[in-house]
Amino acid sequence: MKFAIVSGSHRPQSQSSKVGGYIQKELEREGHDVFFLDLADNPLHLWDQSKKPEGWEKISQSLESCDGAVIIAPEWNGMVPSGLKNFFLLLGHELAHKPGTLVGVSAGINGAYPIAELRMSSYKNSKICYTPDHVIVRNVADVLNEESSVSDEDKSIRGRITLALNVLGAYAHALTSVRQPEIMNLKRYPFGM
Ligand SMILES: Cc1cc2nc3c(=O)[nH]c(=O)nc-3n(C[C@H](O)[C@H](O)[C@H](O)COP(=O)(O)O)c2cc1C
Repeated sequence: MKFAIVSGSHRPQSQSSKVGGYIQKELEREGHDVFFLDLADNPLHLWDQSKKPEGWEKISQSLESCDGAVIIAPEWNGMVPSGLKNFFLLLGHELAHKPGTLVGVSAGINGAYPIAELRMSSYKNSKICYTPDHVIVRNVADVLNEESSVSDEDKSIRGRITLALNVLGAYAHALTSVRQPEIMNLKRYPFGM
């Protein structure tokens, strides 16, 4: 199967991107293909009524070809970074009725707010289906740095990521039967209530 990874940090060499790299390796180890979209340095112009940002068409096609997605959101001032919210403004139905795994990232012991925010406000029109098993990578600078785990915390978060990716894979198989045009009826009902 093929999965998108979206790293939602605007910062170059971000910890979110590091987490995304780890997840990419794990998915590829299981034989999946990966499309990695890193929002570092804000590659996507802010949503504009008159035009899609440069490069969006290619990104849209790549997302369309995926069976599910991992959305990585660092906690910034207790929120999702604006570039990631902009991504959801640009998104059409590329990920509709496909599973999404949420990954919150924090330098400290937080990281729950972006999960709550995305669960509440990013799925209505995109129709992405978030799985119950999200991940929160806390003390992110201390984990996922080496080939194998170096501490109990590192080992524990790797276990959580494995669980979340296994669940994502199973949902990706299961949801293919949902994506029938006559069931989804995206033409008549493009937006959720
Ligand atoms: C503008 C900004 C605001 C931040 N606010 C929070 C916050 O509210 N909670 C938190 O746990 N970490 C916060 N952090 C620290 C991030 O958790 C830290 O940078 C971490 O490495 C994840 O972000 P990154 O993917 O950009 O590296 C903030 C970082 C930035 C740049």
